[in-house]
Amino acid sequence: MNDSIKEILISGDQITQRCKEMAAQINEDYKGKKVILLGLLKGSVPFLSELSKYIEAEVSFEYMNVSSYDGVESKTLVVKQDVEGPIAGKNIIIVEDIIDTGKTLANVVEMLYDRDVRSVKVATMLDKPEGRTFDIKADYVGFEIPNAFVVGFGLDFNERFRQLPYVGILKESCYK
Ligand code: IMP
Repeated sequence: MNDSIKEILISGDQITQRCKEMAAQINEDYKGKKVILLGLLKGSVPFLSELSKYIEAEVSFEYMNVSSYDGVESKTLVVKQDVEGPIAGKNIIIVEDIIDTGKTLANVVEMLYDRDVRSVKVATMLDKPEGRTFDIKADYVGFEIPNAFVVGFGLDFNERFRQLPYVGILKESCYK
């Protein structure tokens, strides 16, 4: 285990198992349909690659890099990198690493509907429901976790720890 990690919360094997279950649900929901998996950079990449291995529906990949202004209550979204192809009229599943306040996701969903997509669903690896201040719910949730700061499997602290093959709780000495 990495020296900076206090505790492994979710192992890589647990994530793989859960991805298979989530993909089974997605396969059921999108039988005979095409869907775009829209990964939000950077944190969703390991989860997106794991989840997508088990999806049988016809999928294509797109990526966006967005950020919400910190400390601003109004919905302000900055698109740092946009999707490549046309998305109007398409079914989209937004793939996210973690939902905390829900601000990022609420903004992205609104923006996608403004671009006339056909449908939007959300798949998230982790959900911290206690942190929610925006009214948004994911359609596919890997794991609900308590209100702790976690890293690994795509999640970072100052761009570190994204490569860890598990989700863990960071030692307090790393950020105090
Ligand atoms: P929200 O807009 O508050 O829902 O925040 C979502 C984003 O905040 C995620 O995509 C992460 O980048 C970041 N985030 C929230 N909680 C954590 C955490 O525990 N560890 C690492 N990043 C987090």
